Amino acid sequence: MAVTPWEVSGRVDYDKLVKDFGTGRIAPALRARLERNAGGSNVMLRRDYFFSHRDLDLVMDDYEKGKGFYLYTGRGPSGPMHIGHLIPLIFTKWLQDRFKVNLYIEITDDEKFVCKREAEWGDIGKYADENIRDIAAVGFDPDRTFIFRDSEYVGNVYPMLMKIAKKVTYSTVKAVFGFTNETNIGFIFYPAYQIMPTLFEKGRCLIPAAIDQDPYWRIQRDIAESLGYHKTAAIHSKFLSPLQGAEGKMSSSVRESAIWLEDDEKTVRKKIMKYAFSGGRSTLEEQRKLGADLSVDVPFQWLSVLFEPDDGELKRIAGEYGSGRMLTGEVKELLAKKLNEFLAEHRERKKNVDVKRYTHTGKLAQEMWKKKYV
Ligand code: TYM
Repeated sequence: MAVTPWEVSGRVDYDKLVKDFGTGRIAPALRARLERNAGGSNVMLRRDYFFSHRDLDLVMDDYEKGKGFYLYTGRGPSGPMHIGHLIPLIFTKWLQDRFKVNLYIEITDDEKFVCKREAEWGDIGKYADENIRDIAAVGFDPDRTFIFRDSEYVGNVYPMLMKIAKKVTYSTVKAVFGFTNETNIGFIFYPAYQIMPTLFEKGRCLIPAAIDQDPYWRIQRDIAESLGYHKTAAIHSKFLSPLQGAEGKMSSSVRESAIWLEDDEKTVRKKIMKYAFSGGRSTLEEQRKLGADLSVDVPFQWLSVLFEPDDGELKRIAGEYGSGRMLTGEVKELLAKKLNEFLAEHRERKKNVDVKRYTHTGKLAQEMWKKKYV
């Protein structure tokens, strides 16, 4: 198993990750506290998809004392977005809706330029435009959300970026990210910028993202207090598996592994039918006799993460499919239908969204363009 911000391979052992990364499992009492403060339950928490955290208990302490907190997440615009990229954003929207807090979304055009050998600024700029539109379509509060590109916002943060960079040694980033003598210095510097938004406000920062991004937060937590800020908090999700099975994550570099936000209805259905790894048995008789192995069945896992939010219905499907009364084809049809409904709604919102409110004209965006971080 390998889990880094750039690569996830092998069968991911989440218990081991929690131990290796030194994070905490979200225990039932903490989840209950979060949901109580949020005034409702969340499907991704209930299903243990958001499963790990750093200092979420302290975020709740601050919230309960009326001190508040803020949210930060991001996206590297290396190409179009797939459904796995949208999932942390959907959870982030739930947090923002419930807690009415500010949210910063970093678009790391600089990261993608330096880490991809073949990347050109022109292409990255186009992907960033498109990605920002997809992100805005999630429906965040336009007056409490600021979506910014690193290369554009840099003038407002450069002195502070240097303060961060001055605190982080090469030997630290080498140990955390595996940089070598061949790594270009842009890439070596970049972690400073991913840390920067954790210092946007004096209150505590909570970062919803998949657990691959956690190495950055480890560095942040070593240096934040010496700069007069809180160690960042984080809430980590698992990975949406690739269509082909449980190893690795749905990946931008393997087109067939993912459902893309731009896939039309026919493509979605075809991909699910053709590629989605099934825990069903190879013959009808065996399936009827033994039932499907739900632990490896990709359509069932995807339904569990979010696409079948009704617990009773999910239980029914598990019972029917796991006992062999339901067949793989039926579960795949169900997932294709749910995904297509989800994507149709997303496309509709994307058509109408006012992107500028998130990047320039909304209340928080206007405030942020006036700020200088020194
Ligand atoms: P990026 O663009 O690789 O990923 C964007 C977000 O999607 C999550 N993610 C996934 N979640 C579930 N299943 C998957 N298969 C999957 N693939 C990716 C990532 O964890 C991330 O939350 N360097 C970052 C950009 C960034 C950022 C941040 C991300 C800057 N600041 C703060 C999170 C939080 C990147 O390239 O993400």
